[in-house]
Amino acid sequence: MNHKILEGKKGIIFGALDDQSIAWKAALAVNQAGGEFVLTNSPLAIRMGKIEELAQQTGSQTIACDATSLEDLNHLIEKSTEILNSKLDFVLHSIGMSVNVRKKRHYTNLKYDWLAKGWDISAVSFHKLLQTLYKSDKMNQWGSIVALSYIAAQRTFPNYSDMAENKAYLESVARSFGYYFGKEKKVRVNTISQSPTPTTAGKGVKGLDAFLNFAQANSPLGNATALDCAHYIVSLFSDYTRKVTLQNLYNDGGFSMVGVSEEILTKFLE
Ligand SMILES: NC(=O)c1ccc[n+]([C@@H]2O[C@H](COP(=O)([O-])OP(=O)(O)OC[C@H]3O[C@@H](n4cnc5c(N)ncnc54)[C@H](O)[C@@H]3O)[C@@H](O)[C@H]2O)c1
Repeated sequence: MNHKILEGKKGIIFGALDDQSIAWKAALAVNQAGGEFVLTNSPLAIRMGKIEELAQQTGSQTIACDATSLEDLNHLIEKSTEILNSKLDFVLHSIGMSVNVRKKRHYTNLKYDWLAKGWDISAVSFHKLLQTLYKSDKMNQWGSIVALSYIAAQRTFPNYSDMAENKAYLESVARSFGYYFGKEKKVRVNTISQSPTPTTAGKGVKGLDAFLNFAQANSPLGNATALDCAHYIVSLFSDYTRKVTLQNLYNDGGFSMVGVSEEILTKFLE
């Protein structure tokens, strides 16, 4: 896809850890579509990950930011608008982590300090980001802010654990804050609910391969890849989606609307 539909648009992309990350593919796709951006991730991820490779490929600068820290968020937004010499047209929040999932703690036996940390990183950080952008008035009119979600916010999936609640909270923040951002600033706020995807965060969920195979068999178009998600993000940052806001948008090959597919039924006939 080679349409320059983001020419002249500037923004911030959170969450590119390595070349499997959805944010990594999104950065490449936004760059290809003519958008300019600052890349950011937590200080640890910047040290351990490969973000500098991506920065070189896309001619971007990188600024460390722990998305749970208001001080870091203020600094990031201030510096980014200086570097880009402009207010922002788009922001991608591509951040998720549950300590309980990472440490394989069962949902019926959660540690609540771990739950609180995962909630802060995966969900409250989105409110903090929106509030910082809103108060600093650093979004341009008709700008677009996107965060990434998963269908476990609506339906039960084993092993997704407390991330299900984090995603439900994240989607609710998009609606609640999106209302004020729309009314006061003419900025849209949406979440994309993405198919299971083999990334570092995705692989943290026990049995990801089974999730992937089940979703693949139950989706008429097959699972959406990280690249498919990147292209959807580009469209949501573009002027072609100016009146789309407060939505949770499924990018899942149709999975969310299928009860059961013939492939899955056939397995039970065997
Ligand atoms: N992989 C999947 O199956 C899948 C499906 C649906 C939605 N998502 C969502 O997509 C988003 C991106 O995840 P991904 O799958 O690309 O995995 P990923 O592991 O590549 O990305 C997660 C990112 O979150 C960052 N992060 C963690 N703590 C942070 C903090 N305190 N401050 C700033 N950044 C922090 C990590 O450094 C990492 O870059 C997440 O919101 C995830 O929940 C993933």
